[in-house]
Amino acid sequence: MTPFLEIRNIRKEYGPVVAVHDVTLNVGRGEFMTFLGPSGSGKSTTLYILAGFDQPTRGDILLEGKTLLETPSHRRNIGMVFQRYTLFPHLSVGENIAFPLKVRGWQKADITARVRKMLSLVRLDGFEDRKPARMSGGQQQRVALARALAYDPPVLLMDEPLSALDKKLREEIQFEIRRIHQQTEVTILYVTHDQEEALRLSDRISVFSKGVIDQIGTGEQLYSNPSTRFVAEFIGDSDFIPCEVVTSRHGKADISVGRDLIVPDVPLHGVGAERSAAQLMLRPERISLSRQKREQALAATVEDITFLGNNIHVATRLAGDTPVSVRVPFGSEVMSGIERGMPVWLCFEAGAAHVFAS
Ligand SMILES: Nc1ncnc2c1ncn2[C@@H]1O[C@H](COP(=O)(O)OP(=O)(O)O)[C@@H](O)[C@H]1O
Ligand SMILES: [Mg+2]
Repeated sequence: MTPFLEIRNIRKEYGPVVAVHDVTLNVGRGEFMTFLGPSGSGKSTTLYILAGFDQPTRGDILLEGKTLLETPSHRRNIGMVFQRYTLFPHLSVGENIAFPLKVRGWQKADITARVRKMLSLVRLDGFEDRKPARMSGGQQQRVALARALAYDPPVLLMDEPLSALDKKLREEIQFEIRRIHQQTEVTILYVTHDQEEALRLSDRISVFSKGVIDQIGTGEQLYSNPSTRFVAEFIGDSDFIPCEVVTSRHGKADISVGRDLIVPDVPLHGVGAERSAAQLMLRPERISLSRQKREQALAATVEDITFLGNNIHVATRLAGDTPVSVRVPFGSEVMSGIERGMPVWLCFEAGAAHVFAS
């Protein structure tokens, strides 16, 4: 089966600057795909090439098996919403939403009905005659969304559309975007640098780093099985502990941490040559704390305890000076009697850990 939208080996150079090195990606019909990565990692450039604002230096993009590169931007039938409100300030809300329909030669009665339907979709019924300047930032972005979806484009591109809004409003509109995606079944490519936003919205996430995609997967896949240290650090909280590879075989390594602890069968990423230095990665909630000395555990000292609502953050430090964060669910027995300055033992299962080797 041909994928709905294909990005094939896209590269984009601006003079000596390589904005996108080599990006390849398939997106399914109706999928919500997010480009997640730090500023400057090539997310917007990739999106602009899809929109037709920019031509790639090489590579191709195909919609249902046909290249889009020869089609000018305004003919691609791709809806767009950007960070800054791009509504026409001199037009009313209704006229803004009607604009792409007029351009496409729709009849007046059809336009009126469609504008009403779109306003209802974004829950702004009755706002037809309002001017954008007299609306809040969140309302303006909902109008922008209504305008982008008015002519029923098969693909919608969104570049950090919520980054100018405060946290509460952002979460409210994230929920709206999710609902609208489910209602319309439009294919969405969404750019953000906010991992929480990506996790909340997406079917799958492409993690961008320095002009390439490090990993593509569901939020759960990226969190539980990050393929690079960068992905592990970018999605969720993580602890990194220096270790040494003892032996390795197809995707697993036996490692040593400090002098005493040997952990067999840890999932391995990278080559992992024998006796090479590597990093052990653990998620703070997959580490258990104990006041009693345990076999197969790391000795640490408690440095700080912070109450965070549904969990407690325990900052510890290993003898070798490595800081290790631990998260304990609120109300857990193990916390009783644990105080700052106390020695504790940290335990974890090999299957919950990862080794990143070079
Ligand atoms: N028109 C341009 N001219 C020169 N460099 C650019 C241009 N557009 C983007 N870049 C550079 O390409 C890199 C990727 O940019 P961009 O795709 O905007 O990243 P992101 O959206 O992930 O923050 C950055 O280093 C940026 O400075
Ligand atoms: Mg950008």
